[in-house]
Amino acid sequence: MATNKNSSKMSLTYKILAKNLLKGELKAGNEIAVRVNQTLTQDSTGTMAYLQLNAMNVDKVATEVSVAYVDHNMLQSSFENADDHEFIKTSAAKHNIIFSKPGNGICHRLHLERFGKPGKILIGSDSHTPTGGGLGMLAIGAGGLDVAIGMARGLYYLKVPKVYNIELRGKLQPWVSAKDVILYVLKELTVKGGVGYVMEYTGEGIKSLSVEDRATITNMGAELGATTSIFPSDEYTKTFLEKQSRGEDFVELLPDEDAFYDDKLIVNLNELVPLAAFPHSPDNVHEIPKEKLKVDQIAIGSCTNSSYSDFMKLAAILDGKRVHPDVSLVLSPGSSNIMKMISENNALAKFIAAGARLLEAACGPCIGMGQAPKTNGISLRTFNRNFKGRCGTMSAGVYLVSTETAAASALTGYLTDPRELGEEIIIQEPEKFETSDNYFIFPNVDENEAKKEREAVEIIMGPNIQPFPIGEELKDTFTKKVILKTKDNITTDDICPSNAALLPFRSNIPKLSEHCFETIIPDFKERAEKNNGGIVVGGENYGQGSSREHAALLPLYLGIKAVIAKSFARIHKANLINSGIIPLEFENVEDYNKIDEYDELQLSDIKNSLKNGTFIIKNITKNIEFPAKFNGSERELKILKFGGYLKFATSDEFLN
Ligand code: F3S
Repeated sequence: MATNKNSSKMSLTYKILAKNLLKGELKAGNEIAVRVNQTLTQDSTGTMAYLQLNAMNVDKVATEVSVAYVDHNMLQSSFENADDHEFIKTSAAKHNIIFSKPGNGICHRLHLERFGKPGKILIGSDSHTPTGGGLGMLAIGAGGLDVAIGMARGLYYLKVPKVYNIELRGKLQPWVSAKDVILYVLKELTVKGGVGYVMEYTGEGIKSLSVEDRATITNMGAELGATTSIFPSDEYTKTFLEKQSRGEDFVELLPDEDAFYDDKLIVNLNELVPLAAFPHSPDNVHEIPKEKLKVDQIAIGSCTNSSYSDFMKLAAILDGKRVHPDVSLVLSPGSSNIMKMISENNALAKFIAAGARLLEAACGPCIGMGQAPKTNGISLRTFNRNFKGRCGTMSAGVYLVSTETAAASALTGYLTDPRELGEEIIIQEPEKFETSDNYFIFPNVDENEAKKEREAVEIIMGPNIQPFPIGEELKDTFTKKVILKTKDNITTDDICPSNAALLPFRSNIPKLSEHCFETIIPDFKERAEKNNGGIVVGGENYGQGSSREHAALLPLYLGIKAVIAKSFARIHKANLINSGIIPLEFENVEDYNKIDEYDELQLSDIKNSLKNGTFIIKNITKNIEFPAKFNGSERELKILKFGGYLKFATSDEFLN
């Protein structure tokens, strides 16, 4: 439903975009460039982003704040993770980037606590960067190369999103929490419902939500497929920043009254009940079932629900009680400061007395790095994703729940509605949060000294840090074989598998390329090598899933020049272009059926065809022709001509 179509009054989203607009017109669907005020990276995507930043030869970042977090690969079961950490640390020191040491906590929680500012634009090489929207900032997840260019040049290109207004009415009832709000929105709109939108929250109901609650909601806006989600910056934001000893960072930011929104959803908080996302999708949301579902493992933490108040609620519920004998309860607080606070106020002692297991302040089980459930196990998690196998056990069933539901279930041993616990618990927030920055390494504040220090830094690249592939300048004609033809809905996981065994190789494209497309065919690499690269033909929604740019870099490394598909997932298409691989769509989808693997295809007059958006492709093997289209902006066309975004971003054409 569109709201107030004729209104020129602005949403908060458009106000922030307008304030930071560098190029283009602020109209839904247009490509614009905006100023990037802040960036964040985490280690699994960060290694590639820093390889790219280092290749751009800039002295220091062009942003106000850039932070390199290490939170994903912490197992260090061999040298690779530690090598990655050292590479990131020295790359950060080389470019005036704040480094967050392993053990400091999860990037999004830490960024919210220590650096996020209302009204700023943050881009991060992690899909849950929108967590910062809880503070009234426009916080967007992006590919690593986009973040590297954001750091080097201080700008970011995006399509102007539409804005979806989520109006919260009423007040959350006892034992119902922010997690239930976002689970409800996911139930209503599904995992595709936010595509092309920023979700903007308004209404009197936001007054029953702290910044931490709001951040839980914006965090999981990523599961809606949204560009990002945002709350206004109001007196609650002010209180949060003051408690973080950052009161000076507060500005009030609200949408105009009667602001224009493209769509609207009303959520009545009074009627909301505890919910759970059943396996294997965050939008498979149901009320807590009456039948008893026995639980084997409960994990509380992740960037979604690892705040101080999450752990204090848990402490109040577990106080003097015991975790059910059949349940393994694992806890990973969001930051070292939260860890310190719960150790000082005795909450930690309550967890230990109740029989919980304490993990590091890191992503841990959320990314399948440890704590995989048993075969066919049932795991309740306060996390944001429950895709099959993500927890490390293919046969396990993961249910996404609130901290209250997880805590109640830890006591009973089955999925339990927390309202059964009886009287509501009220958590007293401290006057001040712990704000120690001892786990951060900051650049020198004296610029003269800082410059000397940057120059002296030697970037340390252990054997796991390998050069990344760079595309070639566009040729006007090429002939290549189709070395793979896929079905519909190929995911980035199919192209670049993601599991605990391969995660340490995100900085090692040659090693990772051995696994490219291995879930579809075991010998893709051999085919590519034998045929000197080639073309991939895909079905609908090619490249859906995560924003992982490795799904474009591996094919690039193996010599893939073009992907011709029925349709593409948006971010993957952008990643292909950024790498210098041409993404083309069939003009007539039935032409897909006329191509077989190993057919030889010829693309000619490429530069003109890209400009006009239409190609005539010759199938030399079958002696037929078929039309295909290129749908991209002028900037994307230039990227392809240069052979990738990195080359374009370092060209005179980009800089002038
Ligand atoms: Fe980490 Fe999981 Fe969040 S991997 S960044 S805790 S989604």
